[in-house]
Amino acid sequence: MKLVKIGMIGFGNVGHGFIQALIEKKAFFRNELGLEFLITSITDIRYGTIYHPDGLPLKKLASAHDFYEMDPSYFRDWNTIQMIRNAESDVIIELSFTDLKTGEPAVLHCQEALLSGKHVITSNKGPIALHYSMLKGLARDNGVKIGCEGTVMSGSPALRLAIDSLLPTGVTEIKGILNGTTNFILTEMENGSSYDEALKEAQRLGYAEADPSGDVEGFDTAGKVAILSHLVFGTFIKPENIERIGISDITVEDVQEALKNKMHWKLIGSVKKTENGVEASVKPIMLHEDNPLANIKGAGNAIQYRSDLLGEITLIGPGAGRKETAAALIEDLVHIFQ
Ligand code: HSE
Repeated sequence: MKLVKIGMIGFGNVGHGFIQALIEKKAFFRNELGLEFLITSITDIRYGTIYHPDGLPLKKLASAHDFYEMDPSYFRDWNTIQMIRNAESDVIIELSFTDLKTGEPAVLHCQEALLSGKHVITSNKGPIALHYSMLKGLARDNGVKIGCEGTVMSGSPALRLAIDSLLPTGVTEIKGILNGTTNFILTEMENGSSYDEALKEAQRLGYAEADPSGDVEGFDTAGKVAILSHLVFGTFIKPENIERIGISDITVEDVQEALKNKMHWKLIGSVKKTENGVEASVKPIMLHEDNPLANIKGAGNAIQYRSDLLGEITLIGPGAGRKETAAALIEDLVHIFQ
């Protein structure tokens, strides 16, 4: 049995989903893969740091809202950097809040972990959209890996499909619905809800970013487009330099009018190779119901790859949510340690 010790940064929605997933899949990991995952440490900006080198109790953690419900002997006076350096761990799972302007504090956390010879897995778009090359270089120099499947379409394997399978077939264009919150809002507006009601519900369900303007103004999609451009096409584009229009100007009337003509408003992120280099954009587009992307409902996402050898490949799946993002962390863990 291979024992893998995990240090976790962030004890929010996705963190809880991850702990729950470890509990649910424990028997599969042991019996089918010969892997046993222990969470030895968690640090959260609100609650501090808890640690036990033999593993914290997962069931207790899954039901805890904060660390004050945990045994006081677990508490350490470590900040995040000290936790990364001091806690016994093979991998750091970085789940702090996303900042697409600077990537911080997650970039610092990832750097520190890689420099300490620990693998990094993150669903945080900031460090991957802004500093992937630097982090990848650090990982290579320190003999470890960085997993980031959850940054695009949560656990739906959008990045792995492109990087591990489609790249040699000549990918020329990528486009899709890459934000769950906005697709949920547009779907709810088709069902008659107001924009504000739909946004509140998306927040309650844990799809929206801490600052939901990141979703509705298209920044989140721009971050994902930047990640796709960098990881699939090898071309770095700063998210802020991507042409971007959000959905906040789309009204219930617009959505209902489109429906009468069998059309659906969707926020589409795209990036393609052209003679002048890579072109990227984020904007709402009206799609006819015959288009597979038009029929993606709720927080669902979809991505279409255009390949020289294969034509069009569409992957449809969840794009947000605690369990769905936790699935990406699990996928990365198993890829690194199996
Ligand atoms: N706020 C994001 C979304 C979360 O709604 O898609 C997943 O990246």
